[in-house]
Amino acid sequence: MDFKNKVVLITGASSGIGKQTAIEFAKKGSQVILVARRMPKLEQVEKELEKFNVPVMIQQCDVSDKLQVQTMSQAVLEKFDSVDVLVNNAGFAIYGTVSDLTVEDIESQMATNYFGMIYCTKNFLPSMIKKKSGHVVNVASVAASFGLPGIAPYCASKFAMLGFSEGLKHELKGTGIGITVVSPIMVRTDFFDHPSFKKMPKYSPTSLSATTVAKAILKAANSPRLEIIVPSVVRGAVWMKNTFPYVINPVVGYVFKKQLDSKD
Ligand SMILES: NC(=O)c1ccc[n+]([C@@H]2O[C@H](COP(=O)([O-])OP(=O)(O)OC[C@H]3O[C@@H](n4cnc5c(N)ncnc54)[C@H](OP(=O)(O)O)[C@@H]3O)[C@@H](O)[C@H]2O)c1
Repeated sequence: MDFKNKVVLITGASSGIGKQTAIEFAKKGSQVILVARRMPKLEQVEKELEKFNVPVMIQQCDVSDKLQVQTMSQAVLEKFDSVDVLVNNAGFAIYGTVSDLTVEDIESQMATNYFGMIYCTKNFLPSMIKKKSGHVVNVASVAASFGLPGIAPYCASKFAMLGFSEGLKHELKGTGIGITVVSPIMVRTDFFDHPSFKKMPKYSPTSLSATTVAKAILKAANSPRLEIIVPSVVRGAVWMKNTFPYVINPVVGYVFKKQLDSKD
């Protein structure tokens, strides 16, 4: 797909990966729709996009609220017949043990990371099916392949996202619509500003820039693959985990549990 003049909707576009993705699509001449809860941040991104001279629409919406997603989708589809690329990127994590987290902490991560993606997909997919074209890009994480201590509910939301995407991909075969999951390792964004992360070392030396991930999202929007892991070398670690779980899981568990224990 040539992204010029294509309609691209990005959730979680007020910061980090979503914001950078908007910039990368705008550079390609796409029309971008920015979705998030914080209006001043969206207005700031809209301003930053002015230099690319592309149409920009901003929509304040909490993706965990299905009525808000419905209202937002109606507003978008009134202006554009369909979106060509839907990037389900809005998401967050709360760091802590399952014992320490409240049920509400756990529910809220599922509501945004998983159900937010479902609501947006359900609202925009019919117009893609009608047009027989489009691509859904779901931003997951390597936490979609590793259940990690300290972020178990977050991992669950991303495992769910990957499983849903795999099933939907089979359903969409022959429709002209693609779906690809982008699964990065740690990325240097505001993601770790959540107070629950305050005792963790902020970024690992191997962490990625939002630009690297945004570029992978553009690649994903043209890819027939189910999942793009960023960086691609980490695919080997996922293969190792799936092939030799009894060797890899204890090592991964030890490293992350040690970090979790040092939090207190
Ligand atoms: N950073 C990492 O290490 C990393 C690694 C792998 C995957 N990811 C994934 O990448 C995605 C983007 O995260 P990021 O690193 O760019 O973090 P970020 O800078 O904190 O951005 C998160 C974005 O999601 C939006 N958001 C959160 N809850 C929302 C809701 N209920 N409704 C609408 N928008 C919501 C936020 O906007 P508002 O607050 O304005 O609503 C913000 O724009 C997430 O899905 C995350 O799980 C991140």
